[in-house]
Parts: sequence; C-alpha cells; structure tokens
Amino acid sequence: MSQSPHMPPDAGDESVAGLVQADRVHRDIYISERVYRLEQERLWKRAWIFLGHASLVPRTGDYYTTEIAGQSLVMLRQADGAVAVRLNRCAHKGSQLLHERQGNAGKFLRCPYHAWTYKLDGKLMSVPLKNDYEGTGLADSPSAQGLAEPGGMRDYKGFVFVRLGKTGPDFDSYFDPAVLATLDNMVARSPVGELEVVGAPLRNVMRCNWKMYLENINDTVHPISTHESAATAAGNIGKSLPAGDAGTSLAMEQLLPFGAGYSFYSDMGAKVLPNGHSVLGTKASIHTGYAPLPEYEAELAELYGADQARALLSFSPQNTVLYPSAAFKTSPSLIRVLRPLGPDRTLIEAWALAPKGAPQRLRQRVASYVRLVFSPMSVVAHDDVHLFESQQNGLRSDGNEWVSLHRGHKADETQMPELTLENGNNEIMMRNQYRGWLRLMDPA
Ligand code: FES
Ligand SMILES: [Fe+2]
Repeated sequence: MSQSPHMPPDAGDESVAGLVQADRVHRDIYISERVYRLEQERLWKRAWIFLGHASLVPRTGDYYTTEIAGQSLVMLRQADGAVAVRLNRCAHKGSQLLHERQGNAGKFLRCPYHAWTYKLDGKLMSVPLKNDYEGTGLADSPSAQGLAEPGGMRDYKGFVFVRLGKTGPDFDSYFDPAVLATLDNMVARSPVGELEVVGAPLRNVMRCNWKMYLENINDTVHPISTHESAATAAGNIGKSLPAGDAGTSLAMEQLLPFGAGYSFYSDMGAKVLPNGHSVLGTKASIHTGYAPLPEYEAELAELYGADQARALLSFSPQNTVLYPSAAFKTSPSLIRVLRPLGPDRTLIEAWALAPKGAPQRLRQRVASYVRLVFSPMSVVAHDDVHLFESQQNGLRSDGNEWVSLHRGHKADETQMPELTLENGNNEIMMRNQYRGWLRLMDPA
C-alpha cells in the first residue's frame, strides 16, 4: 500500500483520519498527547463504556464510584431496586460527594463541603440556610437541578454501561446481539439467572497506551513466544507435584494451554462485528479443556434441556471485546476493564464473577485465574506488561512510522462489517478495532 499523507505528530489539527489505514496504523495513535486528548473528548464520550456490575450495590443506598475519561461517576441502588448512575459532583461548587470506592450512603447523599443533600436519585433535597436563598436565582439555575446524569445509562442483565456524552449511538445499535450473546451466556450459566462479583477487582496500572492492551486481547500469535517460559515452567512444576491435588490441577489446567501452538489458535475461529467489537474463540479456546462439573451440568440440563445446556457450556470464547472498554470471558466468568489514564498509562481492572447458585468450584476457578493470569504477581501478565511497556518505549524511537496489521488482510474485508472467520490468527480483529476507533473519532 502506498504511503498516503498523514498527520504529522501534534500538528494542532483536529483530524485523525490519516492515522488509520486499511492494513496499518500510525504510531501517533499510541504515543501522541494530541490523539489521547481527542480520544478522551470524542471516543470515550460517544462510546458505551462498561462501568461496573450491579451486584456491587445489592441494597438500597449502596454505591460504587469510578472514574471514566476524567469523569467521576457513582452507581447507586435506588429505593425501587433500580440502579442509577450520576456524576459524582456536587451541584453547588463541584466537590465530589463520595470518596470511598464502595459503601452505603443511607437514605440520601450529603456533600461533605457545605452539606447540600440529595435524594438517591440525585434530586436536590435541601440546602442549609434556605431562607438566605429566597429571591435569588438559585431555584431557576442548573445548580438547583441536582446531580447531573451521564448522556446514557443501561443496566444490561446486571452489567452497567454508560455513554458519557449526550450524543452518540444508542445502546442497542452500538452492541449487536452477537456481541451481547457472551453476556447472555454468562448470566445463563447461573441456575438462578444472576451473577455476582467475587472479591474486589484487581487493579493494575500499566505504562502503555490502552489500545496496545486491547489489541493484545485478540493477539493469538504472541502466547507461544511471550508466554513460553511461563507455560514451560508450569509444565515442569506440575510434573513434580503430587497428582490429584485440587489446587494443583486447577492451576495446571489454566496455565498449560498458554503453551499451545499456532495451529491451536488458528483453529479456534473468530467473529468481527461492527463498531470494533469481536468474539475470539467461537469454536474453541484455551478454556475449552477445563474439567467438566457433572452435577452442575445436569442442573443446567434440567433447566434448559440437554442440548441447550451443552451449547451454553461449550461457548467459552477466549475473549469477547466490547469496544473500547472491556473484554469478557464466559468460563472462567470474568471481565477485564480498560481505563486510560494518559497516552502511556492505562489502568486495567480484572473482575471475577460467579454464577449465583453454581458450585463452589466455579468461584475457585475464576479466583485462581485472575490471580494466576492477571494480578501484578501473575506468572503470565508480567510477560505481557513488560512487552506493552517495551512497545510503548520502542515506538518513540524513529524508524518506520507505521505499525503493521497486515496478517490475513483482504482488500474487500471492509465491505463486510460482520464476518465469521475460520482462522483465529487473522489480525482483522485489530483492524476492526481501528475501524471502530475511526467511527467514534471521526463520525462524519
Ligand atoms: S460543594 Fe457541595 S455543598 Fe458546597
Ligand atoms: Fe499475553
């Protein structure tokens, strides 16, 4: 492909279209302050972003706070049982109302600064020295309107999403049913149709651009080299441990598949979907070989019929990406959440979930997986983190300005926004992320 003109770094211009081509992307998308700022204003405000899981706020008044694209947000359980999201910012002078990550606000929210109080739905309830406001313009001003709301919010079966900006696609057109099928599957694995968060999400700040992490979630070519030492060490240690130990077997069944060869990954199949989303591992994944749980499977067969239960349990993709903020696995049941903090800093959260009413083994499975694979002490993640940071540093050096995404590229692939792939090694999943990126960054 010829080198078409592109934006020079930090030219002060608002255009980004030249940074993404059909089969490669310009390095500025990872390293430029300007691009990062535009992403915060455009992409992260127009897209639907995963905020948290409703099981974090089970009782009336329970809250969970988080920050997305510089916006302080709070998820609150209402008296009627619904979940609401508000900006965590007092309508008086802007102080944050809640400073803890999680807790219970009681019947109302009270600002710690001058004690303005709000109902759980964000409506202003009372202000001190009320009489002193008589005859002033307060009642007609936005300050009396209570806590602001994000542009959109959706509680999808307990998975809570927000759209920060007032404009952008609606939830149903942003997420194809084929994307949400992974979330449906996670919920259906619970005999009572509900999930709950297990423990606190693990949080890890990496010194790399968020898009490197998101690309890597669909990178099936790296494990054989990046994770070679972890898989080999696990295999060697496994041989020296006593057979039949439940903890050992759990660790081994989770770590050994990282050593699978290229053909294993190419055979797993994939799907790309509009808006940057994807499902990797439509046919199989590194999770497919986990030991069966016969009693649990019989319970689901009772509920759904044997065929449907089998279909439900056999869908265990490597990763379903809900672009741009999260990646989901059905078995083990977990979510990785991306929160960009700067062009070269990203907070990654790993959320473990368990199907309510399911056997304890599934809790152990997911708790073990997040520790082994995603925690800062993980024997797997440190290899990835080292390489993300190395890539971030390397791209600052001069040389080829373009990052290759050529593997499996076909000139006509953009004509097919939804595509099922036999080959899980195709870089189309990353190219598709950048088509989603452009759509949000340059919607015209
Ligand atoms: S800033 Fe909240 S009451 Fe004044
Ligand atoms: Fe990895």
